[in-house]
Amino acid sequence: MENQKKATLTYDGNTWELPVYEATVGQSVVDISNLYNDAGIFTYDPGFKSTASCESKITYVDGEKGLLLYRGYPIEQLAKQSDFIETCYLLLHGTLPMEEEKDTFAHSIKIHSMVHEQVSCFYRGFRRDAHPMAVVCGIVGAMSAFYHDSIDNSDPEQCIAASTRMIAKIPTIAAMAYKYSIGQPFMYPRNELNYASNFLQMCFSVPSEDYKVNPLLSRAMDRVLILHADHEQNASTSTVRLAGSSDTNPFACVAAGIACLWGPAHGGANEASLNMLREIATIDRIPEYIARAKDKNDPFRLMGFGHRIYKNYDPRAKIMQETCHEVLQELGIKNDPTLSVAMELEKIALTDDYFISKKLYPNIDFYSGITLRALGFPTAMFTVIFAVARTVGWLAQWREMIADPSQKIGRPRQLYTGSPQRGYVSIKKR
Ligand code: CMC
Repeated sequence: MENQKKATLTYDGNTWELPVYEATVGQSVVDISNLYNDAGIFTYDPGFKSTASCESKITYVDGEKGLLLYRGYPIEQLAKQSDFIETCYLLLHGTLPMEEEKDTFAHSIKIHSMVHEQVSCFYRGFRRDAHPMAVVCGIVGAMSAFYHDSIDNSDPEQCIAASTRMIAKIPTIAAMAYKYSIGQPFMYPRNELNYASNFLQMCFSVPSEDYKVNPLLSRAMDRVLILHADHEQNASTSTVRLAGSSDTNPFACVAAGIACLWGPAHGGANEASLNMLREIATIDRIPEYIARAKDKNDPFRLMGFGHRIYKNYDPRAKIMQETCHEVLQELGIKNDPTLSVAMELEKIALTDDYFISKKLYPNIDFYSGITLRALGFPTAMFTVIFAVARTVGWLAQWREMIADPSQKIGRPRQLYTGSPQRGYVSIKKR
């Protein structure tokens, strides 16, 4: 390519030219894929702080500006004007659907919402007090044993079938995990309801009573799902891509993503954040926790604060905060102590030098816990709900990856600092 920008690397007296690829928006990348062949060295970047692991057209985050785009559309516009099903279509197909396309897509999701009846036997093998993330991770992994006709990645129809099944069934699987944990009967999906209402119905209705979904709460649930639907190459998405790079089936890939999401530094932060707000309990105790967060010798961190990419307010956190207020108002919750602590904590942290200088702002998990708890979910379900929403993002990224002709099995290198070769010494001579 003429006019192609190049970066120059000088090492050990030799110079190499490395191609630079331009992004449509955001950072360009230096292609180092031939560096080992040409120069005999690896690059070193623990945590991938400066490394783009793939080319993608799905989601863009500008952390300095606090901007999040799904297929080019700002998250604020999608959260206010779109719905989760349309957002799923957008993430998977790259364009907003026409009316008929949306109806067809919504129908295909609805007709796959039930799980194989045998799956319910799987649940009964878990302890009742198992964390629902453990249950959901296990059940999604087990789906490859139930849907043999959608695990051949070389058949595009099977890839679509697997994605449709997972997006359709993940709310059912999550709701069943919840029902199992509280000893209530599993509730079947009701296909006359939309995606968010159906999820609420499967979680909160019981066979012995009529259940009417509150439209405002359903809209809030839908918004939570939109906000969590994708976030480019985060830890769980990269896990899905890395698992998928070996050509394993998509159910196994998504199960791997769920396992990664569970960690408190990632999706588990919403649970950790609410637990922290409850532990702080009253506004007068906030300074003690701020001091702990700033203390280098204390491992404590303000949960729901800070982000690898956002060095500005997380745009999802702003929408989540608004949604949180709407939900509490609808439910007539006037003085929620955790909300009061959260708002005061945010106010103090945003004016504190430590947080300002390190660019630590509230992230999506800061207000999502309060909202989800008000909707009726126990804390253990928060990360499960994140997984329900993120399933579409994982699948969009997985499909993009397997369609990419340049894709190779992920196999990072290392800086080895262990012992050089040495001879084995028998146990008596050591
Ligand atoms: N409270 C106090 N100090 C913090 C916090 C925090 N929440 N987050 C980062 N710092 C400090 C950290 O101690 C470090 O200080 P120093 O430079 O003096 O060593 C500096 O800020 C940079 O932190 P880092 O750990 O190097 O940054 P990272 O990009 O590797 O980590 C993070 C990002 C999200 C893991 C981290 O900010 C964190 O642990 N936050 C709390 C957990 C949380 O809310 N996670 C949800 C992330 S958003 C949802 C998602 O994507 O899953």
